[in-house]
Amino acid sequence: MKYRESGMPIEELWQSFFNPVDTLKQMDVDKNIRILIDIGCGYGTFLLPATELVSGNVIGIDVDEKMIEVCENKIQDTSISNVHLINGDISTEDTIEQLKKYKAEIDYITLFNILHCEKPLYLLQSVYDVLNKNGKIGVIHWNHEETTPRGPSMKIRPKPETIIEWASKIGFTLKNQIDLPPYHFGLVFVK
Ligand SMILES: C[S@@+](CC[C@H](N)C(=O)[O-])C[C@H]1O[C@@H](n2cnc3c(N)ncnc32)[C@H](O)[C@@H]1O
Repeated sequence: MKYRESGMPIEELWQSFFNPVDTLKQMDVDKNIRILIDIGCGYGTFLLPATELVSGNVIGIDVDEKMIEVCENKIQDTSISNVHLINGDISTEDTIEQLKKYKAEIDYITLFNILHCEKPLYLLQSVYDVLNKNGKIGVIHWNHEETTPRGPSMKIRPKPETIIEWASKIGFTLKNQIDLPPYHFGLVFVK
């Protein structure tokens, strides 16, 4: 099931909100990572730059076939060979089981602009189950301010402190909290 309020604006506008390489670096995406999974990879805004920052492979998952097609087309135009795409629903057991095959090497999972979903604790638990021992998750989300030019409605938009509370309930430890101006914050957790 596609999560609530998870549609995307035109790509040009979406890209204008981020500096992906800087953000990924600040969020501990580095050569220690053998497999990075980007959940709800969208236009590949973070997925594609991540291919150059990790030592191994990146896996992008999106429930929206069109988003996967956009990523496929972009990859075709490059020499990138360490990316794998899955058109799947992360809220299903099937997708989780598919990912568990790689568990021993999954060192990082992104939850970028997605934790306003219907069942954030369930998503965090699934991610915890799939992640390697000592693996990290990176969470990015819109600042909890009415003035941001996009973002989910305020009633479902999670504050950083709420995400920290959810993640610690699951067993994650907060490693880093950063501002990602102009509109986002970032949290890195360790399993
Ligand atoms: C707001 S966009 C964020 C895209 C990307 N993470 C980024 O920050 O640039 C959310 C993405 O999650 C995808 N999505 C929504 N529900 C999903 C689900 N249940 N499983 C996998 N992907 C999902 C949407 O199709 C969309 O591409």
